[in-house]
Amino acid sequence: MNVADSEVVVSILSDAGYETTKNINNAGLILINTCSIRDNAEQRIWGRLKAISHLKKRKNDVKIGIIGCMAERLKEKLLETNHLVDLVVGPDAYRELPLLIAEAEAGHKAVNVLLSREETYADISPVRMDKNGVSSFVSIMRGCNNMCAYCVVPYVRGAERSRNPVSVLKEVKELVDMGYREVTLLGQNVDSYKWKNDDQSIGFPELLEKVAMVNPMLRVRFSTSHPKDISDDLLHTIARHENICNHIHLPAQSGSSHILKLMNREYSREWYMDRVNAIRIIIPECALSTDMITGFCTETREDHEESLSLMELTGFDFAYMFKYSERPGTKAARKYLDDVPEDIKSERLSEMIALQNKLSAKSKKNDIGKVFDVLIEGFSKRSDEYLSGRTSQNKVVVFPAGDLKKGEYVKILIERCTSATLIGKSI
Ligand code: 5AD
Ligand code: SF4
Repeated sequence: MNVADSEVVVSILSDAGYETTKNINNAGLILINTCSIRDNAEQRIWGRLKAISHLKKRKNDVKIGIIGCMAERLKEKLLETNHLVDLVVGPDAYRELPLLIAEAEAGHKAVNVLLSREETYADISPVRMDKNGVSSFVSIMRGCNNMCAYCVVPYVRGAERSRNPVSVLKEVKELVDMGYREVTLLGQNVDSYKWKNDDQSIGFPELLEKVAMVNPMLRVRFSTSHPKDISDDLLHTIARHENICNHIHLPAQSGSSHILKLMNREYSREWYMDRVNAIRIIIPECALSTDMITGFCTETREDHEESLSLMELTGFDFAYMFKYSERPGTKAARKYLDDVPEDIKSERLSEMIALQNKLSAKSKKNDIGKVFDVLIEGFSKRSDEYLSGRTSQNKVVVFPAGDLKKGEYVKILIERCTSATLIGKSI
């Protein structure tokens, strides 16, 4: 999400005559795009500000801006307690950046953290910052209307808005013309994408289908799906189109119905498992990944074991796992006690990571001997004699380069695997 936002910001500033630089020492303006989702994300930003303070001391006219979610959440603190910061700009105010920069250059503190009900930056063609030129992100909606008790997103990114499908399709076509071979449609909850005007109403399955039909050589991914909204209609759409990737990121957060209720996730363990079963039936080759939180308020050992058993039963191919981090202003911060001790949170997280390592290894071992269509993304990290790409299931594959080139599709027979990678050869 933040990469996509940074690309919008670069586009707005390029139109206003600014250029990016790879060398921070040459910059006249430094914008730090921030995330507030967990406390450690914010701590990293404070650390980063400290790390660049010498630039300001050396060259007083360099302007420093904090943009994105942390700007939204901590505007006063950023301006009052941190003399380095000249600009504070929330996620719906990027169009104002040229004006705000001018204000900062005139010696004033420049702030705009107004959230909008309409802004989707639909008409802005993001300047691609992704390095491989093969895969890119396309934002299809902003904000979130869910009120997960632990989550700060609705407060810092505002209400949900869907982007006009015409502008989504235009951006996708432009990417294809530029040579891109994969797009990931992005939103906090893509399943609730809804675009309405006088004569049409388009939901996510229809949008996904339209994107898939832009070009059969273009792979389409999407993230994130909310388990409460993922419909059979969407699953059938994925199954119908060869170029819609067989991977669904479906954050469970917990395996305990009691904790899910406290989290306000609006589904139970049974509902989640029902959706997993539907995926297994409708898209048998589909990979599944999840986000999990350990140590949410009141979580008992039994609740934790239910999370582990849900992971085991589903057999996730991949997972992002986090310790619960209380975020000021959220329902959980206001109403519940953050009562699971830090050492227990850490212990449960380690157990969860150990289990996921086992599941990920099993999922990769299962692929040995199979043949996958791999989209080549570039050279492998270790050697230019090897290329790296991904399967439809989003697993990284490394194989000898031969005459193959990035952006091509190739059939790879998987011969072995490491903990993070499948290794094979083209056939
Ligand atoms: N503490 C820990 N993890 C969180 N996430 C969101 N808010 C919190 C929080 N307060 C996790 C969820 C979400 C992912 C993006 O971040 O798992 O899916
Ligand atoms: Fe946060 Fe829940 Fe919205 Fe995801 S769906 S962004 S976890 S409030």
